[in-house]
Amino acid sequence: MNMKNKIATVFGGTGFVGRQVVRELAARGVIIKVATRVPERAYFLKPDGAVGQIVPVVCDYADEKSLAAAIAGSDYVINCIGVLFEKGKRQKFQKIHSDLPTAIAGLCAKAGVGRLVHFSALGVDKGTSKYAKTKLEGEKGVLANSPKATILRPSVIFGEDDSFFNMFAEMARYAPALPLIGGGKTKFQPVYVGDVARAVLAALEQPQAQGQIYELGGPDVLNFKEIYERLFRYTGRKRCLVSLPYGLAKVQASFMSVLPQPPLTRDQVESLKTDNVVSPTAQGLADLGVLPTALDVILPTYLKSYRDGGRFAAQ
Ligand SMILES: NC(=O)c1ccc[n+]([C@@H]2O[C@H](COP(=O)([O-])OP(=O)(O)OC[C@H]3O[C@@H](n4cnc5c(N)ncnc54)[C@H](OP(=O)(O)O)[C@@H]3O)[C@@H](O)[C@H]2O)c1
Repeated sequence: MNMKNKIATVFGGTGFVGRQVVRELAARGVIIKVATRVPERAYFLKPDGAVGQIVPVVCDYADEKSLAAAIAGSDYVINCIGVLFEKGKRQKFQKIHSDLPTAIAGLCAKAGVGRLVHFSALGVDKGTSKYAKTKLEGEKGVLANSPKATILRPSVIFGEDDSFFNMFAEMARYAPALPLIGGGKTKFQPVYVGDVARAVLAALEQPQAQGQIYELGGPDVLNFKEIYERLFRYTGRKRCLVSLPYGLAKVQASFMSVLPQPPLTRDQVESLKTDNVVSPTAQGLADLGVLPTALDVILPTYLKSYRDGGRFAAQ
């Protein structure tokens, strides 16, 4: 499909996934409005397009008029907004994962937007965490207001700026031991951020993706222990692994909740009780024509900077 000169609004385009989506759209000649609370945060994206192709637009996510202005005139809307933890009165799962996407979908329908792609997360249909429950509610709100929207449910996403592998690699730098929460048995199916962005483009292009839910996972299924082993291989650091029951992990997480960016929350411990893998009956990357990239291809490219002595140190 020729996307040149179509207009897209990307909510959360400043984020880890959103910036990759913006780059893919820009490469296809799409004119992009990056809807963000702080336009200055989107300036770094401008060199990824021609002059004037990528335009940061200020948006107050709590204000319908502001959302409608960000959506106005767009052929495509992609919602990549999400948070990992609640903080204060403004950063609430209910508002960000359910109320906001429901409002965006309603406004897209009103404005006659051709295609809406919304980011949810893998396992929300089985999860018991507040994160999962509000994400699921958000999916329902989106499909109720925009039945032709496409929902993407990725497993944990990896890539150069990810928060998952980078956080554990950073911890391995200083901590003598790392926790295996619940024995480290939870399974994940990490998916590459570049493949996730290509899935968004495919969902915009393919008519059969309308009204569908896709579960996005990569070619590797690993439990937490295996994830650490992969991390140790590419950072050249080996640490003790200490099994931590869910109850104890929740106590530890309660203390961490006072930090501005808590590395672990009680809700995240709860979400570790459910495996994060693609269901055998679900539609996935293959249905969108995307060939998944293996962890071993990408992890060494950015985890090598955590080696003792830096990225150029001998292995
Ligand atoms: N990364 C993963 O491993 C993963 C896994 C499963 C699902 N997902 C989902 O995929 C989507 C993209 O993930 P991501 O990792 O790219 O997210 P991200 O980088 O953490 O954040 C995406 C955007 O959310 C907005 N945001 C952050 N805090 C906010 C707050 N308190 N209130 C309102 N907006 C806020 C920011 O937009 P502005 O600052 O520009 O306003 C940010 O650019 C999300 O829906 C996420 O839940 C991600």
